[in-house]
Amino acid sequence: MSETIYQGLAGVNVDRTQISHIDGLKGELIYRGYDIRELANKASFEEVTYLLWNDDLPTQEQLSAFSESLKPHYKLPAEIIEVLRLMPKDTHPMHAVRTAVSMLGAVDADAEGVDLDNIHRIGLSLTAKFPSFVAAFERIRNGLEPVNPDPELNIAGNFLYMLTGEKPTEAATNVMDVALVLHAEHGSNASTFVARAVASTLTDGYSAITAACGSLKGPLHGGANAAVMGALEKIGSVDKVEDYVMNILNSPGGRVMGFGHRVYRVLDPRAIILKEVSHNLAEESGDSKWFEMSLEMERVMDREMAKKGKQVKPNVDFFSASVYRMLGFPTDMYTPIFAVARISGWMAHLYEQYADNKLMRPRMVYEGPVGRSFKALADR
Ligand code: CMC
Repeated sequence: MSETIYQGLAGVNVDRTQISHIDGLKGELIYRGYDIRELANKASFEEVTYLLWNDDLPTQEQLSAFSESLKPHYKLPAEIIEVLRLMPKDTHPMHAVRTAVSMLGAVDADAEGVDLDNIHRIGLSLTAKFPSFVAAFERIRNGLEPVNPDPELNIAGNFLYMLTGEKPTEAATNVMDVALVLHAEHGSNASTFVARAVASTLTDGYSAITAACGSLKGPLHGGANAAVMGALEKIGSVDKVEDYVMNILNSPGGRVMGFGHRVYRVLDPRAIILKEVSHNLAEESGDSKWFEMSLEMERVMDREMAKKGKQVKPNVDFFSASVYRMLGFPTDMYTPIFAVARISGWMAHLYEQYADNKLMRPRMVYEGPVGRSFKALADR
């Protein structure tokens, strides 16, 4: 009897969630009922993190209390700085991110508890510390001393401050904040699923987030933003975009990075917002090269995919590449920046998973040999 195989778990509902929902046909994304387009324009990353971890948006009083509860966690324990100094300077920064989370688990005397109070404490600590260790590694690998966090700044502003050592402008902080809100949560994506699968064994929260970091790094997931920038750098100018894209599409299994999605069949709403941000930054900076190359890539892909009758549109990683470039981030930092945002969504999912857990243990259809007779080693 043939059994159905859902390769890549495509189309499989593994659980229920109240955190977010994607309508891939309409191109809509909601966080607990609120449209991402509205949240991106009106809510801060702290507000959105509160929303993801609770039932609704905070009141002013709740938001102030929540923001204050993050601040004591901004500073990194000395062991984390030490471990970041030990990392090879040319390693992929996602190795540093994954290692820092693992080390934070090792130095937390209460790492093991999976009761919701403890997971909430770990969530506050990790959400506050992700910007700190991403920025610290960036400075250390460039031969600079890490900058201590400034408790007066929000997560977005503090991240920029700890990277450069200079107080960021309001405009730069706002763009960073929008990027964090857009990347905070996205349903059962690969890294969130990994986090929930690891948590489903009732191991500790740090182990789940360490695994999620490893999953986010892949070029089919959070690594795509760096791959998009790598492609734009390699192409070099607008007139060479068409040849580049056609070469990929004409090679077997070729994938143009930053396009396509498992769920969206129309344009990802986050890509629409980031496209506008990228356009604005290009106009303000006078450096429109990256935006124009991106537009040309979108045009060629639209034309070619229409010919094949496929719905393959830019995803969130596509325009975030040019945005991060114009904000001055090095290319290999793009995925760590994604992680700075996604920690809030990962933690929201850990709360749900630990609150109503069922071990994740799917099956596989065995297609190997059966009934073989064992031969002693000397007879093989
Ligand atoms: N370039 C060219 N063709 C594509 C692409 C692409 N980027 N994405 C999908 N297609 C085509 C593909 O050729 C396939 O055609 P056919 O059915 O004839 O073989 C069809 O669309 C379906 O593609 P798939 O790869 O089977 O679909 P999937 O749901 O398994 O993959 C994906 C989704 C995101 C892995 C894929 O679109 C991809 O590899 N994109 C490039 C990497 C990327 O940008 N990843 C970021 C994903 S979104 C945000 C995030 O998670 O970070």
